Amino acid sequence: MPLPKAELHLHIEGTLEPELAFALAARNGVTLPYKDTEELRRAYLFQDLQSFLDLYYGLMAVLHTEDDFADLADAYLARAAEQGVRHAEIFFDPQAHTSRGVPLGTVVEGLARALDAGEERYGVSTRLIMCFLRDESAESAMETLQAAQPYLHRITGVGLDSAEAGHPPSKFREVYEAAAALGLRKVAHAGEEGPSAYIREALDILGVERIDHGLRCMEDPDLVARLARERIPLTLCPLSNVRLRAVDVLAEHPLPRMMAEGLLCTVNSDDPAYFGGYVGDNFRAVHEALGLGEEQLRELARNSFVASFLEDDEERRGRLLTEVEAYEFEAAGAE
Ligand code: ADE
Ligand code: ZN
Repeated sequence: MPLPKAELHLHIEGTLEPELAFALAARNGVTLPYKDTEELRRAYLFQDLQSFLDLYYGLMAVLHTEDDFADLADAYLARAAEQGVRHAEIFFDPQAHTSRGVPLGTVVEGLARALDAGEERYGVSTRLIMCFLRDESAESAMETLQAAQPYLHRITGVGLDSAEAGHPPSKFREVYEAAAALGLRKVAHAGEEGPSAYIREALDILGVERIDHGLRCMEDPDLVARLARERIPLTLCPLSNVRLRAVDVLAEHPLPRMMAEGLLCTVNSDDPAYFGGYVGDNFRAVHEALGLGEEQLRELARNSFVASFLEDDEERRGRLLTEVEAYEFEAAGAE
Protein backbone atom coordinates (compact mmCIF):
# COMPACT_ATOMS: atom_id res chain seq x y z
CA MET A 1 0.00 0.00 0.00
CA PRO A 2 1.44 3.39 -0.95
CA LEU A 3 1.95 6.31 1.45
CA PRO A 4 -1.33 8.33 1.70
CA LYS A 5 -0.89 11.79 0.23
CA ALA A 6 -2.66 14.82 -1.22
CA GLU A 7 -1.82 16.22 -4.61
CA LEU A 8 -2.01 20.02 -4.68
CA HIS A 9 -0.34 20.91 -7.99
CA LEU A 10 -1.90 19.05 -10.87
CA HIS A 11 -3.13 20.46 -14.18
CA ILE A 12 -5.93 18.17 -15.35
CA GLU A 13 -5.04 18.95 -18.98
CA GLY A 14 -1.53 17.77 -18.16
CA THR A 15 -2.86 14.27 -17.43
CA LEU A 16 -3.86 13.73 -21.07
CA GLU A 17 -1.96 10.55 -21.95
CA PRO A 18 -1.16 9.95 -25.66
CA GLU A 19 -3.52 6.94 -25.81
CA LEU A 20 -6.47 8.99 -24.55
CA ALA A 21 -5.50 11.91 -26.83
CA PHE A 22 -5.72 9.64 -29.88
CA ALA A 23 -8.97 8.05 -28.67
CA LEU A 24 -10.59 11.47 -28.18
CA ALA A 25 -9.22 12.68 -31.52
CA ALA A 26 -10.93 9.73 -33.24
CA ARG A 27 -14.16 10.32 -31.30
CA ASN A 28 -14.24 14.01 -32.25
CA GLY A 29 -12.90 13.81 -35.80
CA VAL A 30 -9.75 15.76 -34.94
CA THR A 31 -6.54 15.07 -36.88
CA LEU A 32 -3.42 15.30 -34.74
CA PRO A 33 -0.08 16.27 -36.30
CA TYR A 34 1.47 13.00 -35.06
CA LYS A 35 1.30 9.58 -36.72
CA ASP A 36 0.74 7.63 -33.49
CA THR A 37 1.33 7.64 -29.74
CA GLU A 38 5.00 6.74 -30.21
CA GLU A 39 5.63 9.75 -32.40
CA LEU A 40 3.74 11.98 -29.96
CA ARG A 41 5.79 10.67 -27.02
CA ARG A 42 8.98 11.35 -28.95
CA ALA A 43 7.94 15.04 -29.08
CA TYR A 44 8.14 15.26 -25.27
CA LEU A 45 11.69 16.64 -25.27
CA PHE A 46 11.28 20.13 -23.89
CA GLN A 47 13.81 22.96 -23.89
CA ASP A 48 11.93 25.10 -21.39
CA LEU A 49 8.45 25.95 -20.12
CA GLN A 50 7.33 27.58 -23.39
CA SER A 51 8.25 24.60 -25.58
CA PHE A 52 6.14 22.40 -23.29
CA LEU A 53 3.22 24.86 -23.25
CA ASP A 54 3.11 24.92 -27.08
CA LEU A 55 2.57 21.15 -27.20
CA TYR A 56 0.25 21.13 -24.14
CA TYR A 57 -2.13 23.74 -25.58
CA GLY A 58 -1.97 22.12 -29.03
CA LEU A 59 -3.04 18.72 -27.76
CA MET A 60 -6.08 20.22 -26.01
CA ALA A 61 -7.68 20.36 -29.50
CA VAL A 62 -9.03 16.86 -28.81
CA LEU A 63 -11.09 18.00 -25.77
CA HIS A 64 -14.59 19.06 -26.79
CA THR A 65 -17.47 17.52 -24.90
CA GLU A 66 -18.47 17.04 -21.27
CA ASP A 67 -17.69 13.34 -21.74
CA ASP A 68 -14.14 14.19 -22.87
CA PHE A 69 -13.47 16.18 -19.70
CA ALA A 70 -15.12 13.49 -17.58
CA ASP A 71 -12.98 10.76 -19.18
CA LEU A 72 -9.85 12.83 -18.62
CA ALA A 73 -10.59 13.38 -14.93
CA ASP A 74 -11.63 9.76 -14.37
CA ALA A 75 -8.37 8.49 -15.89
CA TYR A 76 -6.38 10.80 -13.60
CA LEU A 77 -8.22 9.70 -10.45
CA ALA A 78 -7.70 6.03 -11.26
CA ARG A 79 -3.94 6.51 -11.63
CA ALA A 80 -3.61 8.87 -8.70
CA ALA A 81 -5.52 6.55 -6.37
CA GLU A 82 -3.14 3.70 -7.29
CA GLN A 83 -0.27 5.89 -6.11
CA GLY A 84 -1.80 6.73 -2.73
CA VAL A 85 -3.57 10.02 -3.53
CA ARG A 86 -6.48 10.47 -1.12
CA HIS A 87 -7.21 14.12 -1.86
CA ALA A 88 -6.50 16.18 -4.99
CA GLU A 89 -6.79 19.91 -5.65
CA ILE A 90 -7.00 20.05 -9.41
CA PHE A 91 -6.14 22.97 -11.70
CA PHE A 92 -7.90 23.60 -14.96
CA ASP A 93 -7.30 26.28 -17.61
CA PRO A 94 -10.69 27.71 -18.71
CA GLN A 95 -9.25 30.15 -21.25
CA ALA A 96 -7.47 27.34 -23.11
CA HIS A 97 -10.92 25.90 -23.84
CA THR A 98 -13.19 28.93 -24.17
CA SER A 99 -10.73 30.38 -26.72
CA ARG A 100 -11.42 27.26 -28.85
CA GLY A 101 -15.18 27.68 -28.56
CA VAL A 102 -15.69 25.14 -25.75
CA PRO A 103 -18.06 26.67 -23.18
CA LEU A 104 -16.87 26.94 -19.57
CA GLY A 105 -19.96 24.99 -18.47
CA THR A 106 -18.91 22.00 -20.59
CA VAL A 107 -15.50 21.94 -18.90
CA VAL A 108 -16.74 22.35 -15.33
CA GLU A 109 -19.73 20.00 -15.63
CA GLY A 110 -17.64 17.29 -17.27
CA LEU A 111 -14.87 17.49 -14.67
CA ALA A 112 -17.33 17.75 -11.78
CA ARG A 113 -19.26 14.69 -12.92
CA ALA A 114 -16.10 12.54 -12.91
CA LEU A 115 -14.87 13.98 -9.62
CA ASP A 116 -18.17 13.27 -7.87
CA ALA A 117 -18.23 9.71 -9.16
CA GLY A 118 -14.52 9.32 -8.42
CA GLU A 119 -14.93 10.20 -4.77
CA GLU A 120 -17.10 7.10 -4.37
CA ARG A 121 -15.19 4.90 -6.77
CA TYR A 122 -11.59 5.69 -5.80
CA GLY A 123 -11.94 7.24 -2.34
CA VAL A 124 -10.26 10.46 -3.49
CA SER A 125 -11.77 13.76 -2.33
CA THR A 126 -11.21 16.65 -4.72
CA ARG A 127 -11.41 20.41 -5.16
CA LEU A 128 -11.20 22.43 -8.39
CA ILE A 129 -8.92 25.44 -8.82
CA MET A 130 -9.51 27.62 -11.87
CA CYS A 131 -6.28 29.06 -13.30
CA PHE A 132 -5.87 32.27 -15.27
CA LEU A 133 -3.36 32.24 -18.12
CA ARG A 134 -0.84 34.89 -17.13
CA ASP A 135 0.30 35.46 -20.74
CA GLU A 136 -3.26 36.56 -21.56
CA SER A 137 -4.55 39.97 -20.45
CA ALA A 138 -5.90 40.85 -17.02
CA GLU A 139 -9.17 41.77 -18.76
CA SER A 140 -9.46 38.25 -20.14
CA ALA A 141 -8.85 36.84 -16.65
CA MET A 142 -11.58 39.11 -15.24
CA GLU A 143 -14.01 37.98 -17.95
CA THR A 144 -13.20 34.38 -17.08
CA LEU A 145 -13.94 35.04 -13.42
CA GLN A 146 -17.28 36.62 -14.36
CA ALA A 147 -18.14 33.71 -16.65
CA ALA A 148 -17.43 31.31 -13.78
CA GLN A 149 -20.07 32.82 -11.49
CA PRO A 150 -22.70 30.14 -12.24
CA TYR A 151 -20.19 27.41 -11.31
CA LEU A 152 -18.67 28.85 -8.15
CA HIS A 153 -20.26 26.14 -6.00
CA ARG A 154 -17.87 23.75 -7.81
CA ILE A 155 -14.76 25.93 -7.67
CA THR A 156 -12.67 26.31 -4.51
CA GLY A 157 -10.04 28.73 -5.68
CA VAL A 158 -8.14 30.56 -8.36
CA GLY A 159 -4.58 30.09 -9.61
CA LEU A 160 -2.19 31.63 -12.11
CA ASP A 161 -0.24 29.62 -14.66
CA SER A 162 1.28 29.52 -18.18
CA ALA A 163 4.37 31.44 -19.37
CA GLU A 164 5.79 33.13 -16.29
CA ALA A 165 8.69 35.34 -17.41
CA GLY A 166 7.50 38.87 -18.18
CA HIS A 167 4.06 38.27 -16.65
CA PRO A 168 4.34 39.29 -12.99
CA PRO A 169 1.62 38.53 -10.46
CA SER A 170 0.94 42.27 -10.02
CA LYS A 171 -0.75 42.24 -13.46
CA PHE A 172 -3.64 40.34 -11.82
CA ARG A 173 -4.17 42.38 -8.64
CA GLU A 174 -7.78 43.36 -9.43
CA VAL A 175 -8.76 39.87 -10.55
CA TYR A 176 -7.46 38.35 -7.31
CA GLU A 177 -9.26 41.02 -5.26
CA ALA A 178 -12.49 40.15 -7.09
CA ALA A 179 -11.88 36.42 -6.59
CA ALA A 180 -11.35 36.91 -2.85
CA ALA A 181 -14.56 38.96 -2.66
CA LEU A 182 -16.36 35.93 -4.15
CA GLY A 183 -14.97 33.73 -1.36
CA LEU A 184 -12.39 31.92 -3.51
CA ARG A 185 -9.06 30.67 -2.15
CA LYS A 186 -5.91 31.99 -3.86
CA VAL A 187 -2.75 30.32 -5.14
CA ALA A 188 -0.33 31.24 -7.94
CA HIS A 189 2.59 29.75 -9.83
CA ALA A 190 5.66 31.83 -8.97
CA GLY A 191 9.41 31.25 -9.04
CA GLU A 192 9.33 28.39 -11.56
CA GLU A 193 11.07 30.29 -14.37
CA GLY A 194 10.34 33.77 -13.01
CA PRO A 195 12.45 35.50 -10.34
CA SER A 196 12.00 35.34 -6.57
CA ALA A 197 10.47 38.84 -6.76
CA TYR A 198 7.40 37.20 -8.35
CA ILE A 199 6.98 35.05 -5.22
CA ARG A 200 6.99 38.21 -3.10
CA GLU A 201 4.43 39.83 -5.42
CA ALA A 202 2.18 36.78 -5.28
CA LEU A 203 2.22 36.98 -1.47
CA ASP A 204 2.07 40.75 -1.01
CA ILE A 205 -0.04 41.89 -3.96
CA LEU A 206 -2.26 38.88 -4.68
CA GLY A 207 -2.43 37.58 -1.10
CA VAL A 208 -1.98 33.95 -2.11
CA GLU A 209 -2.08 31.20 0.51
CA ARG A 210 0.25 28.78 -1.31
CA ILE A 211 2.99 29.20 -3.90
CA ASP A 212 3.05 26.76 -6.80
CA HIS A 213 6.69 25.77 -7.47
CA GLY A 214 8.50 28.58 -5.62
CA LEU A 215 11.81 26.94 -6.49
CA ARG A 216 13.67 30.18 -7.04
CA CYS A 217 13.04 31.42 -3.49
CA MET A 218 16.38 29.75 -2.83
CA GLU A 219 18.10 32.72 -4.50
CA ASP A 220 16.70 35.01 -1.79
CA PRO A 221 17.60 34.06 1.82
CA ASP A 222 15.32 36.70 3.37
CA LEU A 223 12.40 35.30 1.40
CA VAL A 224 13.25 31.75 2.47
CA ALA A 225 13.22 32.89 6.11
CA ARG A 226 9.85 34.57 5.62
CA LEU A 227 8.28 31.57 3.83
CA ALA A 228 9.48 29.31 6.64
CA ARG A 229 8.32 31.70 9.41
CA GLU A 230 4.88 32.22 7.86
CA ARG A 231 4.50 28.51 7.01
CA ILE A 232 3.61 29.29 3.38
CA PRO A 233 3.24 25.96 1.55
CA LEU A 234 5.24 25.39 -1.63
CA THR A 235 3.88 22.88 -4.14
CA LEU A 236 7.06 21.51 -5.71
CA CYS A 237 7.16 19.30 -8.80
CA PRO A 238 10.59 17.63 -9.05
CA LEU A 239 10.16 15.61 -12.27
CA SER A 240 8.59 18.64 -13.97
CA ASN A 241 11.58 20.77 -12.96
CA VAL A 242 13.95 18.32 -14.65
CA ARG A 243 11.89 18.00 -17.86
CA LEU A 244 11.44 21.79 -18.16
CA ARG A 245 15.08 22.34 -17.25
CA ALA A 246 14.52 24.43 -14.15
CA VAL A 247 17.16 22.08 -12.68
CA ASP A 248 19.79 20.17 -14.69
CA VAL A 249 19.37 16.80 -13.03
CA LEU A 250 17.18 15.53 -10.22
CA ALA A 251 20.19 14.93 -7.98
CA GLU A 252 20.69 18.72 -7.94
CA HIS A 253 17.10 19.55 -6.99
CA PRO A 254 17.02 21.88 -3.95
CA LEU A 255 14.21 19.97 -2.18
CA PRO A 256 16.43 18.58 0.62
CA ARG A 257 17.92 22.03 1.26
CA MET A 258 14.44 23.56 1.24
CA MET A 259 13.22 21.05 3.81
CA ALA A 260 16.31 21.67 5.92
CA GLU A 261 15.48 25.41 5.86
CA GLY A 262 12.13 24.59 7.47
CA LEU A 263 10.05 25.32 4.37
CA LEU A 264 6.63 23.68 4.17
CA CYS A 265 7.32 21.63 1.03
CA THR A 266 4.97 19.33 -0.82
CA VAL A 267 5.73 17.04 -3.78
CA ASN A 268 3.39 16.94 -6.79
CA SER A 269 3.31 15.88 -10.42
CA ASP A 270 2.27 19.09 -12.31
CA ASP A 271 1.60 17.54 -15.76
CA PRO A 272 2.24 13.82 -15.22
CA ALA A 273 1.44 12.64 -18.77
CA TYR A 274 4.26 14.85 -20.06
CA PHE A 275 6.89 14.71 -17.33
CA GLY A 276 7.43 11.01 -16.77
CA GLY A 277 5.39 10.27 -13.70
CA TYR A 278 2.47 10.69 -11.34
CA VAL A 279 2.86 11.87 -7.77
CA GLY A 280 3.96 8.50 -6.35
CA ASP A 281 6.62 8.39 -9.08
CA ASN A 282 7.80 11.82 -7.90
CA PHE A 283 8.02 10.53 -4.31
CA ARG A 284 10.01 7.50 -5.50
CA ALA A 285 12.29 9.69 -7.60
CA VAL A 286 13.19 12.03 -4.72
CA HIS A 287 13.79 9.00 -2.50
CA GLU A 288 16.16 7.47 -5.03
CA ALA A 289 17.90 10.54 -6.47
CA LEU A 290 17.97 12.78 -3.40
CA GLY A 291 18.20 10.17 -0.68
CA LEU A 292 15.14 11.39 1.20
CA GLY A 293 14.44 8.84 3.92
CA GLU A 294 11.21 7.52 5.35
CA GLU A 295 10.69 10.31 7.87
CA GLN A 296 11.24 12.96 5.18
CA LEU A 297 8.74 11.24 2.89
CA ARG A 298 6.31 11.11 5.79
CA GLU A 299 6.89 14.85 6.37
CA LEU A 300 6.08 15.56 2.70
CA ALA A 301 2.87 13.52 2.94
CA ARG A 302 1.91 15.21 6.22
CA ASN A 303 2.58 18.64 4.66
CA SER A 304 0.33 17.82 1.71
CA PHE A 305 -2.69 17.45 3.99
CA VAL A 306 -1.71 20.40 6.20
CA ALA A 307 -1.43 22.63 3.10
CA SER A 308 -4.66 21.37 1.51
CA PHE A 309 -7.89 23.36 1.44
CA LEU A 310 -9.70 20.86 3.64
CA GLU A 311 -10.92 23.49 6.11
CA ASP A 312 -14.48 22.50 5.23
CA ASP A 313 -13.77 18.91 6.25
CA GLU A 314 -11.36 18.97 9.20
CA GLU A 315 -12.56 15.55 10.20
CA ARG A 316 -11.27 14.06 6.93
CA ARG A 317 -8.00 15.99 7.21
CA GLY A 318 -7.50 14.66 10.73
CA ARG A 319 -8.21 11.08 9.63
CA LEU A 320 -5.80 11.32 6.71
CA LEU A 321 -3.07 12.82 8.92
CA THR A 322 -3.52 9.94 11.34
CA GLU A 323 -3.08 7.50 8.44
CA VAL A 324 0.17 9.24 7.48
CA GLU A 325 1.55 8.93 11.01
CA ALA A 326 0.56 5.26 11.22
CA TYR A 327 1.94 4.35 7.78
CA GLU A 328 4.50 1.57 7.79
CA PHE A 329 7.02 1.71 4.99
CA GLU A 330 7.84 -1.53 3.29
CA ALA A 331 11.41 -2.65 2.80
CA ALA A 332 11.70 -0.80 -0.52
CA GLY A 333 10.31 2.22 1.31
CA ALA A 334 9.83 4.68 -1.54
CA GLU A 335 6.50 6.15 -2.41
N1 ADE B 1 0.55 24.97 -17.13
C1 ADE B 1 0.65 23.64 -17.06
N2 ADE B 1 1.81 23.30 -16.49
C2 ADE B 1 2.44 24.45 -16.15
C3 ADE B 1 3.65 24.76 -15.50
N3 ADE B 1 4.51 23.82 -15.08
N4 ADE B 1 3.98 26.05 -15.35
C4 ADE B 1 3.16 27.00 -15.79
N5 ADE B 1 2.01 26.77 -16.40
C5 ADE B 1 1.64 25.50 -16.57
ZN1 ZN C 1 1.98 23.84 -12.73
